[in-house]
Amino acid sequence: MIKVGIVGGTGYTGVELLRILAHHPQAELRVITSRSEEGVAVAEMYPNLRGHTDLAFSVPDSKTLGECDVVFFATPHGVAHALADDVLQAGARIVDLSADFRLTDVPTWEAWYNQEHGAPHLLPEAAYGLPELYRQQIVESRLVAVPGCFPTSIELGLLPLVEKGLLQDQRIIADCKTGVSGAGRGAKVGSLLCEASESLHAYGVSGHRHLPEIRQVLSHAAGSPTDVTFIPHLVPMIRGIHATLYCRSELSQVELQQLFEQRYADEPFVDVMPAGSQPSTRSVKGSNVCRLAVHKLIDSDQVVILSAIDNLVKGASGQAVQNMNLMFGLPENTGLEHVALMP
Ligand SMILES: NC(=O)c1ccc[n+]([C@@H]2O[C@H](COP(=O)([O-])OP(=O)(O)OC[C@H]3O[C@@H](n4cnc5c(N)ncnc54)[C@H](OP(=O)(O)O)[C@@H]3O)[C@@H](O)[C@H]2O)c1
Repeated sequence: MIKVGIVGGTGYTGVELLRILAHHPQAELRVITSRSEEGVAVAEMYPNLRGHTDLAFSVPDSKTLGECDVVFFATPHGVAHALADDVLQAGARIVDLSADFRLTDVPTWEAWYNQEHGAPHLLPEAAYGLPELYRQQIVESRLVAVPGCFPTSIELGLLPLVEKGLLQDQRIIADCKTGVSGAGRGAKVGSLLCEASESLHAYGVSGHRHLPEIRQVLSHAAGSPTDVTFIPHLVPMIRGIHATLYCRSELSQVELQQLFEQRYADEPFVDVMPAGSQPSTRSVKGSNVCRLAVHKLIDSDQVVILSAIDNLVKGASGQAVQNMNLMFGLPENTGLEHVALMP
């Protein structure tokens, strides 16, 4: 059994890790941390986990965490930086859900996150945890940076065209919608029912922190600098990300459909829907699936790709477990076969 520790167990990605790992046949939860809920039983705080774990929250401590085989960091940025060295030196592997190890360039990270990078010496060994692009690096790594939720939906939607150089130009637009759980469980005015319900607004228009990550991955896949106009919006739903991606290509609808189907034919968690489809966030809620549909507008070079994920599953905790499976030589889909909730 893989001994698992979770730092940040009271947040939304932390409790989603618990939900997924509760039925993982090879994972045994050993440590779950929260500084604010120290001593509280997990099942008392999250009754959906009654009968699935007897653990109580404890304060993060690198010695106890180092006794695990893998430690998930479901924490704000900057936290994994401080603990990663000790945890790795003790022999545990790390799957970090925060942005701490996603960017390869230290000045870029420091500019976007307004703080000094706490562990730049670890960056060369960190794998970017998008299995559909970096599977072999993940298998060989002891430190994996799980992609952000928006980047996952955008990168998977654009990869087939970008990596084959099939875009006509650099005019790529990612118009994205997210549910409120994307902001975490902490109390914030913008997450209040009265603020978020029955409304829709854009944010981070002039530059969102996920932008350098999206640029980095698409540029690497393309082999040349690739930029995107990325505009996130908050919509009144709890879970889900929907990305509408606009770009231009000379490929026909039939060729686009073939390209996408072939690219993801062997991917367990990317579903290319039939031509003419529109994936909904509801169709992926609670599952580790990214649902894609590719459209070509009539009498135009305009391509529109629709991409839907659950921000807490393929956009965070499910993808984190997918990475753990790869790092420990397990079948990639172990414990991740949940069917989406309907309605
Ligand atoms: N929410 C999403 O949809 C989503 C998707 C992809 C990635 N992410 C990323 O995943 C990470 C967690 O997100 P979340 O939404 O789960 O956040 P959250 O709901 O705000 O939870 C944060 C957790 O981290 C713990 N924590 C905070 N400061 C800490 C510190 N200094 N040391 C140790 N523990 C600390 C908190 O518990 P205590 O304060 O009690 O210790 C809490 O359990 C973030 O980096 C986020 O950007 C989130």
